[in-house]
Amino acid sequence: MEAAEKEEISVKDEAVDKNIFRDCNRIAFYRRQKQWLSKKSTYQVLLDSVTTVEDSTRFQIINEASKVPLLAEIYGIEGNIFRLKINEESPLKPRYEVPDVLTSKPSTVRLIPCSGDTGSLILADEKGDLRCHITANPFKVDLVSEEEVVMSINSLGQLYFEHLQILHKQRTAKENEEEASVDTSQENQEDLGLWEEKFGKFVDIKANGPSSVGLDFSLHEFEHLYGIPQHAESHRLKNTRDGDAYRLYNLDVYGYQIYDKMGIYGSVPYLLAHKLGRTIGIFWLNASETLVEINTEPAVEYTLTQMGPVAAKQKVRSRTHVHWMSESGIIDVFLLTGPTPSDVFRQYSHLTGTQAMPPLFSLGYHQCRWNYEDEQDVKAVDAGFDEHDIPYDAMWLDIEHTEGKRYFTWDQKRFPNPKKMQELLRSKKRKLVVISDPHIKIDPDYSVYVKAKDQGFFVRNQEGEDFEGVCWPGLSSYLDFTNPKVRGWYSSLFAFPVYQGSTDILFLWNDMNEPSVFRGPEQTMQKNAIHHGNWEHRELHNIYGFYHQMATAEGLIQRSKGKERPFVLTRSFFAGSQKYGAVWTGDNTAEWSYLKISIPMLLTLSITGISFCGADIGGFIGNPETELLVRWYQAGAYQPFFRGHATMNTKRREPWLFGEEYTRLIREAIRERYGLLPYWYSLFYHAHVASQPVMRECIVGSSSHRTKSHHS
Ligand code: NOJ
Repeated sequence: MEAAEKEEISVKDEAVDKNIFRDCNRIAFYRRQKQWLSKKSTYQVLLDSVTTVEDSTRFQIINEASKVPLLAEIYGIEGNIFRLKINEESPLKPRYEVPDVLTSKPSTVRLIPCSGDTGSLILADEKGDLRCHITANPFKVDLVSEEEVVMSINSLGQLYFEHLQILHKQRTAKENEEEASVDTSQENQEDLGLWEEKFGKFVDIKANGPSSVGLDFSLHEFEHLYGIPQHAESHRLKNTRDGDAYRLYNLDVYGYQIYDKMGIYGSVPYLLAHKLGRTIGIFWLNASETLVEINTEPAVEYTLTQMGPVAAKQKVRSRTHVHWMSESGIIDVFLLTGPTPSDVFRQYSHLTGTQAMPPLFSLGYHQCRWNYEDEQDVKAVDAGFDEHDIPYDAMWLDIEHTEGKRYFTWDQKRFPNPKKMQELLRSKKRKLVVISDPHIKIDPDYSVYVKAKDQGFFVRNQEGEDFEGVCWPGLSSYLDFTNPKVRGWYSSLFAFPVYQGSTDILFLWNDMNEPSVFRGPEQTMQKNAIHHGNWEHRELHNIYGFYHQMATAEGLIQRSKGKERPFVLTRSFFAGSQKYGAVWTGDNTAEWSYLKISIPMLLTLSITGISFCGADIGGFIGNPETELLVRWYQAGAYQPFFRGHATMNTKRREPWLFGEEYTRLIREAIRERYGLLPYWYSLFYHAHVASQPVMRECIVGSSSHRTKSHHS
């Protein structure tokens, strides 16, 4: 192992150092939005601007202070979904609109404009059951279903939209003067991170100044909200009134803290709200850093003493306010109106796709470790399962199987005969899964590097050169998976003749794809790195891993000429990642509390479309006590993705290493899994065709004695 690597790994042995990561108060767009919203300046709809263009109704909204017009568009989408888009009417340059997530152009339904009172506009679906009431001044949208106001948008006046600007130096003296009359004291500019945002030794330069957006949603009589993974938190979302907002920013957080709202490996900007008789969803399609605040105001009944006996009692219904804020992009939000949970699951998958049907083997047990050392080790572990009569389906190889972390290669000394090793596994109908990360070692003798470099396939820095950052191999460049050409080329690397030593029992594991950049800001890529189409990394950070898994899955489909289903596990993900395979919860710890938190973490992923999910059995970091390991197997056997994994400096923990009795218990747990395999397969089929999550929470028993159980 190289010295630099050793240092990284030993640093990483500590519990999570929260100073590496930002909390809300250290995020400039959060501070800006809070400061501005306290000033309460309102937006107004210009009703004479209303037009119907093709399938949408459009109108202008103007802020009373800035006077810069925004363009709002409302669409009706098949299956009782509304879409609201808000963008600058004429931005300095196009703003990022997330591509490739929606399954196809969602089929729209015509909304019929009905005349409202003066000062409002009403749009109704054909049956007239669902309506959008748009109030002009101040701008507000009420979503009405069968005479009930389900949700109000911007009722708290938190619509916020920063307009792209030209760089200071390129402005006329007059423009700069005008700005000086606002509040541009050096101190305030720095604090608000308008053009430059500092974090530790890092400075983020913003070419077009601040570009954040935000909007509030009030959900009437809803007190139970779920979703917006990924956080190591409870299933039901908590009020954020007294602390940090839920952060959606994909980060490599080794040994993440539990019961915390910081962003970890993946993001799905989608939440569900439930009350008796109705479930709804809000899908905020934005791939930049996002914060979500949740604030429930409970129902209150109060007495109006001054107002005579008739009006003596007034009831204020409970409401939950959800405030979304994103660093960049546009406002593009889908309102899923339910009314049942199944309807909402279907509506969401109509937009982003359903869970890919997994190959049967991938629902069995997987055995992983960082690392199985060499071919002899693989052979011995494989034989161990047979000797102890424990079924398993896939052996996994972590980064050490490669020649110096050069993916698509094999370490010549440890794995000289990868095909022979796979033949052994094949003879027992087993599979091999190997890792492939998005960073590519800078090495002029590494063909993957050379080809990617020659074709300009790496993310670039501000100077237009290939971005360089440190990861497992040392200095690396990062493939720009947002470029369809890069994805096409990467997919071609999985073809059998190209990927030397691979066979059709080899499947893939995509890791470090937040992307993880050691020593980068918050261990990730600078926000002003440049991607295909000249988009800054800030616009699309949360979707980078999604594209990596997409390209890998496509590669596996192509190598089998479209015949075999792929299996790809990813650590980073976004809305729609379910179409490309499985997700796991990253670097958890071998403690009881992490076993417990795996359940809400997986339930949350499940209801946001990602059914194929799991947590490392036993806990990745540290050595589980034997009972914890057994209990983890027993719980994991009932979770969708079932893999034992451990980091490099832990004790070996193959199921038979803890004495007869424990071996028996683990064997039983794994066998129970296998006994139910046809049921698992059917559940996945239902997830695939009918959008029903595989892992679900059911409340059993009478209301006086309620216990939660997990149905899988
Ligand atoms: C981080 C992953 O989360 C972990 O599962 C893996 O073993 C290491 N990277 C090494 O590849």
